[in-house]
Amino acid sequence: MKKKLVLWTMAALLAFSATACGGSGDSGNTDTKEEGSKKEETASKGESSSVANKDKPLVWFNRQPSNSSTGELDMNALNFNKDTYYVGFDANQGAELQGQMVKEYIEEHADTIDRNGDGVIGYVLAIGDIGHNDSIARTRGVRKALGTGVEKDGNINSEPVGTNVDGKATAVQDGTLEAGGKKFTVRELGSQEMKNSAGATWDAATAGNAIGTWSSSFGEDIDVVVSNNDGMGMSMFNAWSKDNKVPTFGYDANSDAVAAIAEGYGGTISQHADVQAYLTLRVLRNALDGVDIDTGIGTPDEAGNVLSENEYRYSEEERSYYALNVAVTADNYKDFTDSTKTFEPVSNQLDESKSPKKKVWLNIYNASDNFLSSTYQPLLQNYDDLLNLDVEYIGGDGQTESNITNRLGNPGQYDAFAINMVKTDNAASYTALLNQ
Ligand code: BGC
Repeated sequence: MKKKLVLWTMAALLAFSATACGGSGDSGNTDTKEEGSKKEETASKGESSSVANKDKPLVWFNRQPSNSSTGELDMNALNFNKDTYYVGFDANQGAELQGQMVKEYIEEHADTIDRNGDGVIGYVLAIGDIGHNDSIARTRGVRKALGTGVEKDGNINSEPVGTNVDGKATAVQDGTLEAGGKKFTVRELGSQEMKNSAGATWDAATAGNAIGTWSSSFGEDIDVVVSNNDGMGMSMFNAWSKDNKVPTFGYDANSDAVAAIAEGYGGTISQHADVQAYLTLRVLRNALDGVDIDTGIGTPDEAGNVLSENEYRYSEEERSYYALNVAVTADNYKDFTDSTKTFEPVSNQLDESKSPKKKVWLNIYNASDNFLSSTYQPLLQNYDDLLNLDVEYIGGDGQTESNITNRLGNPGQYDAFAINMVKTDNAASYTALLNQ
């Protein structure tokens, strides 16, 4: 008799707490009776959408909250709440790889690389965004490998030089490189930030125009074209270097760039977007389920999803997951032809009874960014189903934060957020909305 009473009281209490926690009206759920018990469980774990916006899981991705002049991480944004993370890739490791890839190509093609035989290997460089850590790292990586970097404040200067046909620019120097028994001078003939007049960075069309200008004034001197990403790299390749048989190097391993390797594109770097897109949604999933953050990442989940240390590293101090990069060249490009394919070891469907559907608000800073729209977002869309997440995708204009934040009018409708800022300094524009 007593036992029954206790059970009855517990059931009543549970039912009460479920109504109290779940009835705020902002969950968007129209639960059926059968789902009631599930809801009681989530409600008792405090995971219903009556959770305050400021306590909901938040992941920054692709643009790490940081000072765009100094690169210093914005630890306030990275520690917004206990379920906040950044997902990106290891910018320095990738940058080293890109530099090495270009250098090795030159060494292997020493007989033909110097097109006008003047002993100077000239290259031009398309810079994505002078205030973006990834872009800065790539510019440094190339300059370091080719010996054209000069030190500034304890690091390699990453400023654009404009044009430097005479080798007199101060932000770079002439390097030397021995290859095929010959000693070459290496010169950065030109570099500029590819920003369009409306302010969008990493702008492919601007890069296509720049190669037009550079090639018409010193085209004979250009032996190599390097770009901070494939979007700009492919634009330059299609506009000029393909016809002129000048090897062009990018970054991202977008499908079109990988395919172009068969037609003379020099190479690219995979930033393991298949792992990043997974991590972006996985950290949210884990926080929403209230499980250990390593679940399905370093520790296999019940469905068997797990990554290995060859694919990512986690920095607890920086609250950041970094995917590792792989060079994609003529030797291995056939393994990378579809950049939107999920990574096999983390492609198993989660059980919806344990990881119930949740709503995520996610934005892409620029709907026309080649990498994010042709590689990253399709990957996210493949993973959201596997992870039982109902993701609303918002595409920004690449220029103003408000174009995006205006579309986060009602954060209470969502269980978690994934944010790709226009400018890395601007985290507060988003967290202010969640703090309201
Ligand atoms: C990618 C670029 C992209 C940028 C956007 C970088 O990591 O390599 O292609 O334009 O992110 O933030």
